[in-house]
Amino acid sequence: MKFLRFSDICASGQAAGKRVFIRADLNVPQDDEGNITEDTRIRASLPAIQMALGAGAAVMVTSHLGRPTEGEPRPEDSLAPVAKRLSKLLGREVPLITDWVEGGFEVKPGEVVLLENCRLNKGEKKNSPELAAKLGKLCDIFVHDAFGTAHRAEATTYGIAETAPIACAGPLLAAEMDAISKALENPRRPLVAIVGGSKVSTKLSILKTLASRVDQLIVGGGIANTFLLAAGKRIGDSLAEPEMVREAQQVMDIMKERGAEVPLPVDVVVADEVSALARANRVSVDEVGPHDRILDVGPKTSAKLAEIIAHAGTIVWNGPVGVFEIPQFAGGTKMMASAIAHSEAFSIAGGGDTLAAIAKFHIEDDVDYISTGGGAFLEVLEGKTLPAFEVLAKRA
Ligand code: 3PG
Ligand code: MG
Repeated sequence: MKFLRFSDICASGQAAGKRVFIRADLNVPQDDEGNITEDTRIRASLPAIQMALGAGAAVMVTSHLGRPTEGEPRPEDSLAPVAKRLSKLLGREVPLITDWVEGGFEVKPGEVVLLENCRLNKGEKKNSPELAAKLGKLCDIFVHDAFGTAHRAEATTYGIAETAPIACAGPLLAAEMDAISKALENPRRPLVAIVGGSKVSTKLSILKTLASRVDQLIVGGGIANTFLLAAGKRIGDSLAEPEMVREAQQVMDIMKERGAEVPLPVDVVVADEVSALARANRVSVDEVGPHDRILDVGPKTSAKLAEIIAHAGTIVWNGPVGVFEIPQFAGGTKMMASAIAHSEAFSIAGGGDTLAAIAKFHIEDDVDYISTGGGAFLEVLEGKTLPAFEVLAKRA
């Protein structure tokens, strides 16, 4: 897919003295007091800002934070904590500008400002043409660098890309696309995908797309339970979607026809409740009782999955295989994380739970590419063209 790259624009001197509007994804988790608990997305957004400053541009950055009601700002919707963190990371003051849509604020070349939560502007979510026209007038160059929001067609992620004089991809957006394409388009084989989490229905189209591409499809969590049902196993009180059994069967059939495999658990860790106080038992997959809940894969399965991962050429990871937040049910995900960390495969991971698992097991430095996208990452895996790339290609 062809699109202009901001790095090329800067390298050719076209950004000097220009007004550059960067749409970043600074939507970071916060605690009840508003403290930022995890700042990966802010750090990942620095290169675009530094690139623009280095090129001598007057820099405006915006992002959404949460899902506020347009036109009704509450204190918790403010990007103020983000402005503070950004100032610290950049080592310079980043003023926060409110009510910025009509302009009327000043940024000089070599300066950067943060524009308050763009989802507070009326028309943002629905990409209103009036708002998009105003946004386009604020800048000479629009830089889309919000991979985490690349699956949304809103005024700051889509409309402005149509109205700004120049629209291009920032370094983060470009790097995300390059990494995911590398993993999926011409992968070193075997290509192993790990898809965990609770629901088959929300990840079904991803599973189908992956079934026709990957050599091994490791399923985990509620998804694995639904696959176990499809294989005729008893799963007691485990989380599953019985109405999705036929779809699970289809995924296994597609894989089988290609000589590929969905390795199902041979043993599991069960308990009667999802709680840190629960007593966990390891049982064979044929011994799951009527009141048992499957909350992790067992040691034999972990070893088998680790073996598959050890021989992989490429690994794509979204979703844990157990309730890893609770120690008794963390074994499978921990073993998998360790196998990925030690593997020589090109590994790429994305999604909120996956990033939490990566942080918990301290393997940040051993995963080749960690995506800042949740929903966006999944949609790329699904084979969809994200609105961000569609509109940037149109403008290229
Ligand atoms: C995310 O956190 O998934 C992105 O920032 C997108 O947010 P949204 O789901 O509210 O559009
Ligand atoms: Mg989300």
